Order: sequence, then C-alpha cells, then structure tokens
Amino acid sequence: MLLVKILNCLILFALVVGHNNLNVSEKGIFMPEDDGGWLTNPEDRIAQPGPCNIPVEDGSLTQDEFLERYAYHYPVVIRDATNNQKFRSLTQRPSLLEGYGHTTVRLSSANSYSYSKRDVTFYEYCSNHVHPQKLSTLGNETFYFFGDNNHDEWQSLLEMYRQPPYTLPKHFAALSFGLAGPGTGVPFHFHGPGFAETLWGRKRWFMYPPDVNPNFHPNRTTLQWYVEDYPKITDDPNLLECTLSPGEVIYFPDKWWHATLNIDSSVFISTFLSP
Ligand SMILES: *[C@@H]1O[C@H](CO)[C@@H](O)[C@H](O)[C@H]1NC(C)=O
Ligand SMILES: *[C@@H]1O[C@H](CO)[C@@H](O)[C@H](O)[C@H]1NC(C)=O
Ligand SMILES: *[C@@H]1O[C@H](CO)[C@@H](O)[C@H](O)[C@H]1NC(C)=O
Repeated sequence: MLLVKILNCLILFALVVGHNNLNVSEKGIFMPEDDGGWLTNPEDRIAQPGPCNIPVEDGSLTQDEFLERYAYHYPVVIRDATNNQKFRSLTQRPSLLEGYGHTTVRLSSANSYSYSKRDVTFYEYCSNHVHPQKLSTLGNETFYFFGDNNHDEWQSLLEMYRQPPYTLPKHFAALSFGLAGPGTGVPFHFHGPGFAETLWGRKRWFMYPPDVNPNFHPNRTTLQWYVEDYPKITDDPNLLECTLSPGEVIYFPDKWWHATLNIDSSVFISTFLSP
C-alpha cells in the first residue's frame, strides 16, 4: 500500500517536472524563447507569471454554454478557441516595422483613466518605448500603445485577426491592438465586456467583481501595485487572477474590474463588445 503511494507520488512528480519542460513545439503553447522578435531580456522580467483561479475552458465550449455560464456572470479563459498563426506571423517585429514603421501611433498614459495622449511614429515607439517598465515611474507618466488605433491604417492587419467565436446578443465587436514592454500594464479599471489575448508574450490578469472596490491608486502602475500591495493580500476570495500565453483568450464580463501586467514584451489584441 505504502509502496503504491510512493510510486504514485513519483509518477505525479515526474508528470509535473515533465510538464514544465515542454515547450511550444511539443505542447502547442508558449515557450519564452519564441518571441516573434519581441525580445525580453530575462533580467528585465520583473513581474512573474502566477497562479490561475479563473475557470479555463477549451475550444469545445459552445456558444450556448458561454452564454449560460459566463457571458453575464463570470470571467473565463478559453484555450485554443481560434487559430491565429497567420495573424501571429504578421505581428512579428520585422513584419510590423516594415508595414507600419512610418505610421503615427497614439500612445495613452497607463493610469486607470488614461488621461493623456502622445503621438509618435510606430518605428520610434518600437525603438524607444518598448522597454521594461521602471518601478519608480508612475502610470500617468508612462506612455503605452494600446487601443486608440487608426483604423484606416491598421484595418488590413486587423482584419486578419480571427476573433473569439463567441458573441453577446445585440453587441458589436471593435478591435484594439497594442504592444508594450515587460512590466507594463494598465492598473485596475472597468468598462464593457470583451475578450483579450496576447499574440506574443505573456500577460498576467487580476480581476475583481463589479461590486468589490479594489484598493489601488489610479496613477500608480500595475507593477507598483504588484510589487508593493499584492504581496500583502492573503486569502482574498474576490481576487481572481491568471497568466495568459499566446493561444489563450480571456473574457471579461461587463464592469468587472481588471488590471493587466505584461510579463514579457507583449503584442496583444482586445475585442470590445458594445451594444
Ligand atoms: C523545445 O523545442 C525544440 C524544437 O523547437 C527542441 O529542440 C527542444 O528540445 C524542445 N525542448 C526543450 C525542453 O527545450
Ligand atoms: C502623476 O500623478 C501623481 C500622483 O497622482 C502626481 O503627483 C503627478 O503630478 C502626476 N504627473 C503628471 C505629469 O501629471
Ligand atoms: C492623476 O494624474 C492626473 C494627470 O496626470 C491628474 O490630473 C490627477 O489629479 C491625478 N489623480 C490623482 C488621484 O492623483
């Protein structure tokens, strides 16, 4: 009996260890070295991936199940819902720079309510702004390319994106594309429902239900919150979190609080659903 237990333990251990060694080619998901040209130096990776207590489904989740369990109720992570290999290849650094380097992009400050904007060329952004977030820099003083796309210029790229195959009745989808360096992210905020995923790099998500007020300063970065406040949170049943890799999409229901933190240099896209 004891021997069986020990054996089981060993097998479990082997599975866990084996699992951690798998990489994208073997497992179909992320490996850090596979970065699409969006290099992240290991020493710049201040934020680490964390646990996941958000339900995880796969592409077998039907539209009816989505409506019944999640659409109006709860966040969910869905794995392999769509195949975006084509879009991923188009968003590798060399391809994006070639197609969009000369265009002007509008940066938004990375605080909760995104007050300020700044325009730079995409080339300038990739060369000088996609760097690791400094712990000392405030959110309202960090400029970051997310949302706010010029849809005429970005249309031909955005239409290559295959949206998550789930809908909300009487809602329309609008896409928002961005990229940023390790340690960047948007502090707690909320808006309408939608989906988000990274094409390159990993992104860590923190969420609270609409009726709970997270404790944060709107001008401080997610990184500051993560380093200074998050470690003090123990056993908060309301705090949901998960780290997503390419191939996984998260659904945020209407008015759920969320904060994001890019672990690596990340290229990401959101599908906002509005009535
Ligand atoms: C990861 O994938 C590559 C092939 O792309 C392979 O050579 C390597 O052995 C794999 N495993 C690990 C643990 O790196
Ligand atoms: C950013 O926010 C901080 C704290 O709220 C404030 O003291 C500072 O003046 C703001 N910076 C800018 C450039 O507005
Ligand atoms: C946050 O920063 C903005 C401008 O950068 C400023 O107008 C606002 O007062 C600041 N908010 C707080 C709560 O300090």
